[in-house]
Amino acid sequence: MAEKLIIFDTTLRDGEQSPGASMTRDEKLRIARQLERLKVDVIEAGFAASSNGDFEAVQAIAHAIKDSTICSLSRANDRDISRAAEALRGANSARIHTFIATSPLHMEKKLRMSPDQVLEQAKQSVRFARNLVGDIEFSPEDGYRSEMDFLCRVLEAVIAEGATTINVPDTVGYAVPELYGEFIRTLRERIPNSDKAIWSVHCHNDLGMAVANSLAGVKIGGARQVECTINGLGERAGNCSLEEIVMAVKTRKDYFNLELGIDTRQILAASRMVSQTTGFVVQPNKAVVGANAFAHASGIHQDGVLKARDTYEIMRAEDVGWTANKIILGKLSGRNAFKQRLQDLGVEMQSEGDINTAFAKFKELADRKSEIFDEDILALVSEDNIHNDKEQFGFVSLSQHSETGERPQASVVFTVDGKEVHGQSDGNGPVDASLKAIESLVKSGAEMVLYSVNAISGSTESQGEVTVRLQNSGRVVNGVGSDPDIVVASAKAYLSALNKLQSTADRVAAQG
Ligand code: KIV
Ligand code: ZN
Repeated sequence: MAEKLIIFDTTLRDGEQSPGASMTRDEKLRIARQLERLKVDVIEAGFAASSNGDFEAVQAIAHAIKDSTICSLSRANDRDISRAAEALRGANSARIHTFIATSPLHMEKKLRMSPDQVLEQAKQSVRFARNLVGDIEFSPEDGYRSEMDFLCRVLEAVIAEGATTINVPDTVGYAVPELYGEFIRTLRERIPNSDKAIWSVHCHNDLGMAVANSLAGVKIGGARQVECTINGLGERAGNCSLEEIVMAVKTRKDYFNLELGIDTRQILAASRMVSQTTGFVVQPNKAVVGANAFAHASGIHQDGVLKARDTYEIMRAEDVGWTANKIILGKLSGRNAFKQRLQDLGVEMQSEGDINTAFAKFKELADRKSEIFDEDILALVSEDNIHNDKEQFGFVSLSQHSETGERPQASVVFTVDGKEVHGQSDGNGPVDASLKAIESLVKSGAEMVLYSVNAISGSTESQGEVTVRLQNSGRVVNGVGSDPDIVVASAKAYLSALNKLQSTADRVAAQG
């Protein structure tokens, strides 16, 4: 019988560490629900000790998710571990993931600890964690650049203390497939109690080899857990991408001979949700989830696919969630059809009131746009577009004037703590004028580090989806807004980013 490959998703932890990808508690909860529908085995929900916001997100996910194991990252110290255990209390199945760096460079320069001190701290942390939770994962950070003999000593010791999963990170994305696979195999062969733990791979994508390295860790090294993120989200060049590793193992079952628990039909919805929430756009030629992944433009390919699909297709688009009929609803569609479509898209609304609000927005949009696509619906119900009363700023209305040869003027009405205010400004263009109109009253002083516009469904009739990335006092946040009018979409995105700057105020650096 084929063995199982455990899929450990770290979009909400390592993915979120990417500058600008920080998410609110509610956004994380929504993504966690989609990961549960995707049937990932383990969800790393955050790093509970890093901030109150992260603690609350891990706690909320631990309470809401029933089918996946919920994990919190934790540095190798009692305080972090206790905080993780506290956040995970009440979870159906909980895991603590504790880590400490083991490479000479990290031990000497970052931790300023001797190898023996690191070994002692690793042992003591796993022992402490094991008394709180039965399922313990240990990671030697920068493991791939660690000395083999020392790493063997550390990993043997933490397994003896009760670590149930050993994860070997290529923290800086330095590995190449064959060497990484052999590294894992050597560790498993040399460590006497290695069979007492499940071996896991965690690869970063700095040289574009995270998926290849992870697959080699599985095939050559015998790892049975892969750590990955939706869309490969993550610091720098990101992590191993979930959709790619899952579809590689599934499509090449003849080679890998491993079972997966994943419902691959939920992949596309997960990809879109993560992209819309973070504002990290998926490139069109991205494997599996890119807009062109299943599009056949050349005549020869089209002809072949029409005659027999497998001439040019190794996977079925439907198997990863692409649907053929993309036009879904219009002006005459009723509330039930809308509600059904939300369910099909995997969108869970908290209450009938929320469905009514979303339906009213849908009707408003349908009055302005004749064809409504799945992407429009997802944008409509994304957290950024449904203003929540708890947020400080909310969009109300906007007017602007621009004419060739004249400086554009904009006037924006928005709410600050529920009270309507009215800002006015000129600017280099209508978008610039609108954002300056908001800033003239808010005076956040935030620096804009990214502004991007994307046509949600590809034509000039479509909604524009705007991402604004703001930086203030070391914090970086993304706001996303959508509307058929890109100036309005820009103002919504800007206000959403300002709201997030407030809600991430207490976050501390994720790694120590
Ligand atoms: O890349 C890394 O080393 C990590 C660890 C904390 C597991 O993310
Ligand atoms: Zn990592």
